Amino acid sequence: MSTWEQDINDINTALERFLPAATTFPTEIHRAVRYSVFAGGKRLRPLLTLATADIFAVGHQEAMPTACAIEMIHTYSLIHDDLPALDNDDYRRGRPSNHKVFGEAMAILAGDALLTQAFATLATESSFPAAVVVALQQELSRAAGMAGMIGGQVVDIISEGKPVNADILDYIHQHKTGALFTCCIRSGAIMGAASVADVAALTQFAEKIGLAFQIVDDILDITGDDTTLGKKTGSDVSKQKMTYPALYGLEKAQQKADLLLTEAFAALQPFGEAATNLTQLAQTLVKRNS
Ligand code: IPE
Ligand code: IPE
Ligand code: MG
Ligand code: MG
Ligand code: MG
Repeated sequence: MSTWEQDINDINTALERFLPAATTFPTEIHRAVRYSVFAGGKRLRPLLTLATADIFAVGHQEAMPTACAIEMIHTYSLIHDDLPALDNDDYRRGRPSNHKVFGEAMAILAGDALLTQAFATLATESSFPAAVVVALQQELSRAAGMAGMIGGQVVDIISEGKPVNADILDYIHQHKTGALFTCCIRSGAIMGAASVADVAALTQFAEKIGLAFQIVDDILDITGDDTTLGKKTGSDVSKQKMTYPALYGLEKAQQKADLLLTEAFAALQPFGEAATNLTQLAQTLVKRNS
């Protein structure tokens, strides 16, 4: 990930600025929020937003409130995803999960706080005209809400232990993970005042990458290394989750992820050199081991 080191540092600096200090009263919530936000996630979502902004020559500082708002939503989703009532996972980002350290009540509230702070950050920190900010909020609320990530998480949970079904599996992956990936990229396009055709091409790219990313997450839950991943493997099998390897086997699942990456690259063709960062990032996030 060294290519992205500077961007990751900038994202972390901006997140630091957009969140209240740990010493602010009541410190319990700020400590819990910061514990998960600064646990060292890969920051792929904000990186995708910045790389899309690059295509349209939108400056990183201008794009940062949007990129960080998405990372806040993502971090909230991880805190809640690990709760005993959902996936009941004890490790995340290389440390004990939020609820293992701060308790379930504070973990639920830390997730709620990050979800709210994401929209507050867009509203108060963004330098774009109001109409652009509203469009960004619309994009983010759709991706995070019932028609997006929440819908996917609901179907993920109610499908545990059921026979794997290809259509339901695609619904889960496209919504619980794909929706936020698509939001990262479409938000970059919105900030860049992209044409309808450009938004359509980038949406195509994003949907392929989002699905490929979750397929690789499913594969790594079987083949990955706990320390490298920063979370416990074997979680999906133990909960009989609907996953790509469960339906197609490991080899076919990997082939599907590779095919999606090739299709995603094709969708970026119209942008030529301008999409170099985005192409590299797509490659990194599908060919990863963490
Ligand atoms: C994990 O996402 C949750 C999924 C949608 C699979 P990441 O693998 O991007 O997690 P972090 O942000 O690097 O911790
Ligand atoms: C998580 O999917 C999706 C969201 C958090 C929205 P997973 O449950 O597969 O993610 P991990 O494997 O716990 O990171
Ligand atoms: Mg889950
Ligand atoms: Mg999980
Ligand atoms: Mg997983």
